[in-house]
Amino acid sequence: MRLRDCHNFHDFRELARRRLPSPIFDYIDGGADDEITLRQNTASFERCDLVPNVLRGVEALDISVRVMGQKLAMPVYCSPTALQRLFHHQGEKAVAAAAAKYGTMFGVSSLGTVSVEELRKTYPTPQAYQFYFHKDRGLNDAMMQRAKSVGVDVMMLTVDSITGGNRERDLRTGFSIPFRLTLAGMLQFAIKPMWAVNYLTHEKFKLPQLDEHIDMGGGAMSIGRYFTEMLDPSMNWDDVAKMVRNWDGQFCLKGVMSVADAKRAAEIGCTGIILSNHGGRQLDGSRTPFDQLAEVVDAVGDRIDVLMDGGVQRATHVLKALSLGAKAVGVGRFYLFPLAAAGQAGVERALGLMRAEIERGMKLMGCASIAQLSRGNLRFR
Ligand code: LAC
Repeated sequence: MRLRDCHNFHDFRELARRRLPSPIFDYIDGGADDEITLRQNTASFERCDLVPNVLRGVEALDISVRVMGQKLAMPVYCSPTALQRLFHHQGEKAVAAAAAKYGTMFGVSSLGTVSVEELRKTYPTPQAYQFYFHKDRGLNDAMMQRAKSVGVDVMMLTVDSITGGNRERDLRTGFSIPFRLTLAGMLQFAIKPMWAVNYLTHEKFKLPQLDEHIDMGGGAMSIGRYFTEMLDPSMNWDDVAKMVRNWDGQFCLKGVMSVADAKRAAEIGCTGIILSNHGGRQLDGSRTPFDQLAEVVDAVGDRIDVLMDGGVQRATHVLKALSLGAKAVGVGRFYLFPLAAAGQAGVERALGLMRAEIERGMKLMGCASIAQLSRGNLRFR
């Protein structure tokens, strides 16, 4: 199976599965507990049908959107995700380059493996910075300051990961950062030589957003332990209101789900919220962003930009979310599997397929611009 044989999410996932040591594949692929939310995220799109309009004259298409002050050439952006150089040595550079090629936003994580400075310097496309709120307030201030001076466009505070989700696949494989080879891992290393050569022959794995503050070299740490030990569970609305004031720019909360929280986010001056359950990796059994979208848009959509992520595998999923009132839609695994499969070429192919699917879908829906998508285009079963 080669890159040119990949036509959709499932093909990329399969190619990534063949290439990655299984603990790394399972880290990307897995969710929390029984993975109910992980499955429901995608299934929720299937409980709703598109109702197209015809004969509308759709020869000139405009699929661009404006979200949190950023102009995106397409309504899909690359959500911030952690540890990307573990999946392919190009890591965040590949994702940023592909996002720039398609004129969209990408997110860099606090747990990113390429520095926010390098990404800002090299890739002229809107950049979001995904922020974790650590117990160490000095670290938080330094990270904010650094993001500000670098010129990050959108601050994205994750609010759904105040403690580690129960990812049983990771418990079974012993997945940790830095990636350590257990005996079972050694076997994986031997049977996945392409990944091993790629990992070992390139720049050493680092976490440049945190390196100065946290010694990750001392001992391998699971993602669950990082969340639980380093992040501050006392974080509250007052802390965030202060951050919003200090940032004084585009600021959104990632992981809001309730109408009450959405209203509160608007009140403290956030310019956006992202409905998200962290790709089903945190609270299993939580409602899906797509199912929650309409009531949140109705409550705050006239005051702040409402975005969503979770389970998106197809442009038709994106079109459904936009029809309900989302301003843009984030993807994670959708570009991570292509990254693992083929680096920058993989992410470019995935975003290219997504753009072509959006354009085709819009034409078949009878919509020449994103603004023309409306709830009249949807029918729930
Ligand atoms: C995860 C974090 C690191 O979901 O965002 O693994």
